Amino acid sequence: MSSTKILLVAAAPLLRAILTSESTKMKIDTLADLYLDQIQDMRSCESQLVKALPKMATAAAHPELKAGFKNHLAETNEQLARLDTILADLGKTAGRKVCEAAVGLVKEGVEMIENATEAQVRDAGLICAAQKIEHYEIASYGCLRTFASLLGREADVKLLDDTLAEEKKANESLTELATTAVNAEALP
Ligand SMILES: [Fe+2]
Ligand SMILES: [Fe+2]
Repeated sequence: MSSTKILLVAAAPLLRAILTSESTKMKIDTLADLYLDQIQDMRSCESQLVKALPKMATAAAHPELKAGFKNHLAETNEQLARLDTILADLGKTAGRKVCEAAVGLVKEGVEMIENATEAQVRDAGLICAAQKIEHYEIASYGCLRTFASLLGREADVKLLDDTLAEEKKANESLTELATTAVNAEALP
């Protein structure tokens, strides 16, 4: 192999990293920029969850957990639509922003499905993975509704509050199911 070719092969990962970061890089100068950036981040998060939740529902053994994931999938589709409404009103698109936190959190959920060998333990693990996601969403929508309020976007505040309430309720339902049934069933 020629030295030029070796250099090109060696530089490929670096070039790829630069190109990827350029594609998602957006200058954030104002609170309005930050608001858009975080709306796009959650748009990416929710669209990843629309794909992950059916897998979690299929993997869940406890009927209430299975039903809970299916119910939250329906809510997640609504949440995605609310973010699209906000983006359309801003005159913006989802862009190429990728929510890297969701990539990691979903990966952990998939690993739980693959690695847990007992159904009851898998259910306890799925609840744990799902609650990490809900907490990320609660933090994100809490920030977003505050930003929307500061920016005087009252219609957005209403939409974001609806989603925030659903995320909190989803988290509480998971706690309830874990503490009243699933965790105890996972004990040997
Ligand atoms: Fe969500
Ligand atoms: Fe959620």
